[in-house]
Amino acid sequence: MTLTQQRFVITGASGGIGAAIAKALAAAGATLLLCGRNQRKLTKLASELDGDPQLFIGDLNDSASLTLLSLAAAEFNANGVINCLGVNQLQTLAQTSDTDVLHTINTNLLTPINICRTLLPQLLSQPSANIINVGSILGSIGYPGSTLYCASKFGLRGFTESLRRELADSQVKVLYFAPRATDTEINSEEMQQLNQQLGNNTDTPQWVAQQLCQRLANAPQGAAYLGWPEKLFVRINALFPALVDGASLKQLPIIKRFCHVETTTTPHAGEQHEAS
Ligand SMILES: NC(=O)c1ccc[n+]([C@@H]2O[C@H](COP(=O)([O-])OP(=O)(O)OC[C@H]3O[C@@H](n4cnc5c(N)ncnc54)[C@H](OP(=O)(O)O)[C@@H]3O)[C@@H](O)[C@H]2O)c1
Repeated sequence: MTLTQQRFVITGASGGIGAAIAKALAAAGATLLLCGRNQRKLTKLASELDGDPQLFIGDLNDSASLTLLSLAAAEFNANGVINCLGVNQLQTLAQTSDTDVLHTINTNLLTPINICRTLLPQLLSQPSANIINVGSILGSIGYPGSTLYCASKFGLRGFTESLRRELADSQVKVLYFAPRATDTEINSEEMQQLNQQLGNNTDTPQWVAQQLCQRLANAPQGAAYLGWPEKLFVRINALFPALVDGASLKQLPIIKRFCHVETTTTPHAGEQHEAS
């Protein structure tokens, strides 16, 4: 299927990566249904895009909005969904509230699952269709100060892999798309400074969008991890987690400083693994 034949629902379209994806796909000739809560941002985005994008305004953590989205997607005759909504907060687990836990897990995990579930009948009715769930490199590497975010993205990765295998005998192709740090508003000022101090690479949303467009042109499925050496770290973490424990331990005082908590005595990384 060429990009001009694609009719995508994009959630999180008012955000940095979602808007860049929308711009790149619209320029390539795809037809779009843009979703987000921020009507002003979405309307402005739509006015800048080629084609005639439709808008869906709503909080997708709300089940009534999800029902309305599935109706809108059917009317739009969607043959693809790109789940790009998400939230993140730099904090240790001790600093999180009940609300933080629910909000992060709902937005980054439960809602994308429910979007896939409610849109699936529509996608299965098409001759060919795509599901793209935007995860993160932190969906494969547990990171201090990001426990809830990592939990949600690890879950999304597992869900997406499982769904891909479940739909392998259908015409719906499933891709887990995992950027590394990207310059958008999801990253607070402190998160950006932390990334800078740790020497973490940061991409532009436009580059991330181009990476997705290139893959969408080739019936994408499986998992795509963006950026070098981050994609290597994903493999190293899977095979040799103690190595990453060691590197993370060295970064811990800096991360805790940005979380505004004092460093406590921590066992050596090797000991942690021998015990587990
Ligand atoms: N930026 C990074 O460093 C980075 C790295 C790896 C992965 N990612 C992932 O990339 C995706 C996009 O992130 P971004 O960087 O573009 O962040 P962003 O600029 O903050 O955008 C987040 C988007 O999520 C939407 N959203 C949040 N909660 C929602 C809800 N309850 N209902 C509907 N929409 C909701 C926001 O919509 P409104 O503005 O309309 O509320 C916004 O469009 C996320 O899944 C994120 O985890 C980001």
